[in-house]
Amino acid sequence: AAAAQPQRISTGSLPDPGLVRRLLDEAHRRFAPVQDGAVANYIPALAAADPDRFGLAIVSATGERYAVGDARHPFTIQSVSKPFVFALVANALGHEEVKQLLGVNNSGLPFDSVIAVELNPGRTANPMVNAGAIATTSLVPGADAAAKWEFVRAGLSRFAGRELAMDDEVYESESRTNDRNEGIARLLKGYGRIYSDPLEATDVYTRQCSLLVTTEDLAVMSATLADGGVNPITRERVIDADSCKRTLAVLATAGMYERSGEWLYEVGLPAKSGVGGGIITVIPGKGGLASYSPLLDDAGNSVRGTLATAFLSTTLGLNVF
Ligand code: DON
Repeated sequence: AAAAQPQRISTGSLPDPGLVRRLLDEAHRRFAPVQDGAVANYIPALAAADPDRFGLAIVSATGERYAVGDARHPFTIQSVSKPFVFALVANALGHEEVKQLLGVNNSGLPFDSVIAVELNPGRTANPMVNAGAIATTSLVPGADAAAKWEFVRAGLSRFAGRELAMDDEVYESESRTNDRNEGIARLLKGYGRIYSDPLEATDVYTRQCSLLVTTEDLAVMSATLADGGVNPITRERVIDADSCKRTLAVLATAGMYERSGEWLYEVGLPAKSGVGGGIITVIPGKGGLASYSPLLDDAGNSVRGTLATAFLSTTLGLNVF
């Protein structure tokens, strides 16, 4: 579909605001009718999501904001939390340490894979799959679980530029059905690859996944990663530039799970999906793009979000290659 539109090559900044607005509207119009995919149902509370919701937002590195559709509708961040927690932990521990402890290679396997740990062997592949993300959360600084959770909540809030709160219903729903993540954490503990109590790390991880965000929040968070770690709205430095650069490398490698190669081939930008229906796409140096639509493909990536992002990358000339 994108082939019919004029293609642009990547330049120093986003195209002029009129074009960004027009193509964001066009992406929404084109892909709203798509009905492919299914809402996540392995977390019971997520099965109630409205499949018609569809929001898109862009925030430039200079702070301009664009949004269309359900961009203010709240939903749980889920796996889109992973790069931000990784960025905060890399910022606290240094990029060499987190590479050694967590890994930075693609697993080529689904996000909740257990066999990926065994094949690696006994190591997490990267911080974007559940195993590596729970291990990342186990490295969060703090004297006890409450302090660690506050580090995560406050850190993600600085990325968003506002105080984020949890969806208690989704948290409790996932907590009650969390055997697989708890099993992964215990398995990793057996290999010395979880760095705190495994059930405590899984609980903080489940809380971070239950934080409520809007598409507009995700665009600001994504723009902060595009801006070398400085939030373009609040102007606060959230993480150092080195941690930011490393996070983008991990996102490009593994942010879309076993579809990361196809994503990079079509979109050419680092991105992260979540089973709540959110996707962030980082346009390095230029801004952040975010989408929300809860209909997912079998890798757990939003279908409309994938289509809209590929369309916008092509038509706005965002592909870094
Ligand atoms: O741990 C889980 O399974 C969920 N809290 C998050 C998974 C997720 O978002 C995968 N991404 N598409």
